[in-house]
Amino acid sequence: MTLCHIAIIMDGNGRWAKKRLLPRVAGHVRGVKRVKDAVEYCINNGIEYLTLFAFGRENWARPEEEVSFLMKLLSEQIRKEFYKLNEKGVRIRFIGDKSRLNKVILDQINDIQNVTSNNTNLKLNIALDYSGTYDIIQAVNNIIKDKRQTITEQEFEKYLLTFPDPHPDLLIRTSGESRLSNFMLWQSSYSECYFTPKLWPDFTKREMELAVNWFKTRERRFGRTSEQLKDS
Ligand code: IPE
Ligand code: IPE
Ligand code: MG
Repeated sequence: MTLCHIAIIMDGNGRWAKKRLLPRVAGHVRGVKRVKDAVEYCINNGIEYLTLFAFGRENWARPEEEVSFLMKLLSEQIRKEFYKLNEKGVRIRFIGDKSRLNKVILDQINDIQNVTSNNTNLKLNIALDYSGTYDIIQAVNNIIKDKRQTITEQEFEKYLLTFPDPHPDLLIRTSGESRLSNFMLWQSSYSECYFTPKLWPDFTKREMELAVNWFKTRERRFGRTSEQLKDS
């Protein structure tokens, strides 16, 4: 079964830290290691697309200190690590609203996107200031601007922030929650969803492999019957 696109809701950093009597932000710092693991796993295993939910639009509601720590951590990672990914042929793209991001981060984002735009080894999307409902609404608003009266599903797709990437085949959420928390609502319509109790800072390459092995056992019917799939 082809596994082309993995999407991950990286959750549980705060709880990981709390268990160790550390401040929540220590969990975010450890979570960065797992981001590197996930990217390496995808490069080494020929996964073409990886989308990581790094910061949701609803996450602005968190305490100001935590939000600014996360922004600083991201800025530091772009500066220190993301250019190394360019050498590995990774295309980096940020998807989300972005209107509330500060100018320093916006400039960094634009630069890394430009530098890596022609890379083809792994296509990495970082969902930042993203939400699935926002994705759909911004699409609708652009459709209105284009003065369209009616639209097909295929045409609608072109307005989504993830276009032209395919939908995720495998959607992973860590930390034991079994909800999507407003992530890729349209695009996850036929994703295989893997919910694991592992907290994101504990989600090693081995855990990623377990998720992928689980995916391989799924029968993706897309509305058909099992018998139809066996016949074809
Ligand atoms: C995910 O971990 C990281 C972000 C949402 C930025 P959390 O910070 O949500 O960790 P928990 O869910 O509180 O454990
Ligand atoms: C989802 O995690 C967002 C990210 C992983 C970036 P949350 O921790 O914000 O989700 P809820 O609030 O538990 O649904
Ligand atoms: Mg959480």
